[in-house]
Amino acid sequence: MEKKLEILPLNKDIETRRVLKQLSRTSRALAELKGIAQTMPNQNILINAIMINEAKTSSGIENIVTTHDEIYKAMVKTNDASPAAKEVADYRAAIWEGYNLVKEKQMINTNIIVRIQEKLEHNQAGIRSTLGTVIKNTTTDEIVYTPPQEKNEILEYMKNLEDYINNDDDMVDPLIKLAMIHYQFESIHPFYDGNGRTGRIINILYLVLKDLIDTPILYLSKYIIRNKIEYYRLFQETRNMNNFEEWIIYILIGIEEMAEETIRIINKIRDEIVNMKHELRDKTKLYSKELLEALFFEFYTKIPYIQEQLGVSDKTAQKYLDTLVELGFLTSEKIGRERIYKNERLFKIIKDADRE
Ligand SMILES: Nc1ncnc2c1ncn2[C@@H]1O[C@H](COP(=O)(O)OP(=O)(O)OP(=O)(O)O)[C@@H](O)[C@H]1O
Ligand SMILES: [Mg+2]
Repeated sequence: MEKKLEILPLNKDIETRRVLKQLSRTSRALAELKGIAQTMPNQNILINAIMINEAKTSSGIENIVTTHDEIYKAMVKTNDASPAAKEVADYRAAIWEGYNLVKEKQMINTNIIVRIQEKLEHNQAGIRSTLGTVIKNTTTDEIVYTPPQEKNEILEYMKNLEDYINNDDDMVDPLIKLAMIHYQFESIHPFYDGNGRTGRIINILYLVLKDLIDTPILYLSKYIIRNKIEYYRLFQETRNMNNFEEWIIYILIGIEEMAEETIRIINKIRDEIVNMKHELRDKTKLYSKELLEALFFEFYTKIPYIQEQLGVSDKTAQKYLDTLVELGFLTSEKIGRERIYKNERLFKIIKDADRE
């Protein structure tokens, strides 16, 4: 018989010496990331760029495999995008939904978590209400863990998790709490499906809630996929040994590594923005801060966006964009009935970062 899942906070000291040692490294990396992101002219630039790779990677853990080109199509909402690409676009929409809710409500509760999962899965199944959900080893098909089964019990665990998330009386560092929250959420496993992806979105929203980062630009999915065997092993070992030290350190190292990686991507994007600025100034009469930001806001733009962001007519917006295509800054293609202009340089930075 499996031991019953404990509620949080645990009645034991989780801030061990080794944990605190790693915590200081992780905090330093994260603070550096927060600072660098703040120096960007427009933080939305980073959010959109970085979120695409997160959506692709996080969906990939569930074997939803697609390419950047397909995701690009799904993002511009053509109907011929593949189902996989649409799922990835949904994941991105779910992060945005969660982010906006957390900013508005200044907390993370069950209701918000349910809405994120709904957005991901496109259904209203909500919290599990029929028995039978178990976690299996995907290679051997053997049951490794049985999460709480009764809906009432699941809701009680969720309420407890909600309190743990929003109440900081325990004075435990939020990065350590993040590791506990992720473990607990996955162990409650409140949904029929999408628990992994929802849990990974909760991680970033928690960092935003605790002001450790201003915007959703730090994700663990890439780290988890790289260290997937350890990720699954640690769930079970933590549970069997009732020892959270390795788990917490695993998550803290992930945050450190991903913060460093994200800093590298930000620096590349920043360099490209500066390059493009100089080139726009040298080769055209079009340069303005607004135009530059519009070109980097997403990796594609459209005439109406430029029209709106620069306050020009549609004719002028089109003329600008066509000039930028002629000079090689953008490429243009017709998708559905709309003409889309793609910032190939930004697109390449994002694609390359995904491969590294
Ligand atoms: N032994 C375990 N104990 C608790 N949670 C686990 C265990 N093994 C895996 N998990 C969690 O369950 C998630 C998978 O659950 P589910 O299929 O509902 O989510 P998903 O989002 O569809 O899939 P994925 O996370 O694989 O993309 C994993 O990502 C992991 O976080
Ligand atoms: Mg699944």
